[in-house]
Amino acid sequence: MAVLDLRDLPDFTANPYPYYAKLRAEGPVHVLRTEQMERVWLVVGYEEARAVLADQRFGKDWRTTGRWAGEAKPINANMLELDAPHHTRLRRLVVREFTARRIEALRPRVAEITAELLDAMVPAGSADLVDALAFPLPMTVICELLGVPDIDREAFRALSGAVVSPTPGQREGDAVGAMGAYLVQLIEDKRRSPGDDLLSALIRSRDEGGDGLSADELVGMAFLLLVAGHETTVNLISNGVRALLDHPAQLAALRADPGLLDGAVEEMLRYDGPVETATFRFTREEVRVGPTVIPHDEPVLVALASGGRDPERFEDPDTFDIRRTPQSHLAFGHGVHFCLGAPLARMEARIAIGALLERCPDLARDPAGGEPDWLPGLLMRGVRRLPVRW
Ligand code: HEM
Repeated sequence: MAVLDLRDLPDFTANPYPYYAKLRAEGPVHVLRTEQMERVWLVVGYEEARAVLADQRFGKDWRTTGRWAGEAKPINANMLELDAPHHTRLRRLVVREFTARRIEALRPRVAEITAELLDAMVPAGSADLVDALAFPLPMTVICELLGVPDIDREAFRALSGAVVSPTPGQREGDAVGAMGAYLVQLIEDKRRSPGDDLLSALIRSRDEGGDGLSADELVGMAFLLLVAGHETTVNLISNGVRALLDHPAQLAALRADPGLLDGAVEEMLRYDGPVETATFRFTREEVRVGPTVIPHDEPVLVALASGGRDPERFEDPDTFDIRRTPQSHLAFGHGVHFCLGAPLARMEARIAIGALLERCPDLARDPAGGEPDWLPGLLMRGVRRLPVRW
């Protein structure tokens, strides 16, 4: 078991994959040190990652841990930070809105928003793809779904970015507080003038016991859906396009046969997905994972990005191959917290990337674009800007 101290590895963020390969060769579980935490258990093997994600002895509700108990904010009252039965109840209240059939009904609107964004982008001949397409598409879709069309998207983007990828020294707590205040106001407005949208439906909804969502649960739900609904998909689109531009033969194959698109998006998720590590879990008791015994009440991170490159599971894992037979990557997690938005994310990415390639036949990186600006932290994997031209 190795100790990985991120403070000693300045190039880890740009390319963590060689480090994960080295760790996997030594064993499936290691210890990680970060600026904020002295000891976090890091699971890097595919099989072990999948097992931990499905194991209820790894809890999500940090309020119930002795060591990690802190003062919870309203936005923390969300399903991704809770265990059964609270998690089950909250998830049940929204799951029907995110079924493949419900999401399919959004297809024409997603295609329309994509076409509008490309209409605005294409005449310029060059753009930052994050700014022009990868960010505004999922942001517009999730805002329309929830019924918040007038949101100040740039302000929300800055706050949301500070919550999921805080730069060192940035006070994450300030962003959490500001985000909470913003959502409380949003829900107040929705209560006063409800519409035909998900947030209004959630305000009205009742579970089997007749209970509605509490004020904090509404804030938590709105927070989770808004943030999870766009931060991740932005990076699926931009990481996916980066992978294609870095592999011209794969890009040419996809252009020649658009029928490969669905498989290509799965390969983008496996090869360089948006979520590098799943969110924190905490051992509810002492648990053995592979050869390692993790003590009770310890924080655990599952490296989804490493699982996707495990040679025990994927042949030639470092090769980007859009014709690869899908073999259940872990990019959307696994188990009871498996991504609720996976059908929506897949649809948005397929439409965005398909339409982009069609409208920009000579798409290439913009050589004047400079060095990539990587998102900091272990949660999200991606770049802040992707300068391209066509
Ligand atoms: C490519 C895009 C996306 C990726 C890679 C992704 C990835 C993930 C992952 C890995 C988890 C599990 C985290 C964990 O177990 O610690 C998760 C959970 C979740 N995701 Fe996504 N996500 C994406 C898009 C979306 C979208 C579009 C939505 C909503 C509209 C969404 C909503 C959620 C929710 C609500 C959860 C929590 C589920 C629960 O706790 O039961 N995600 N996502």
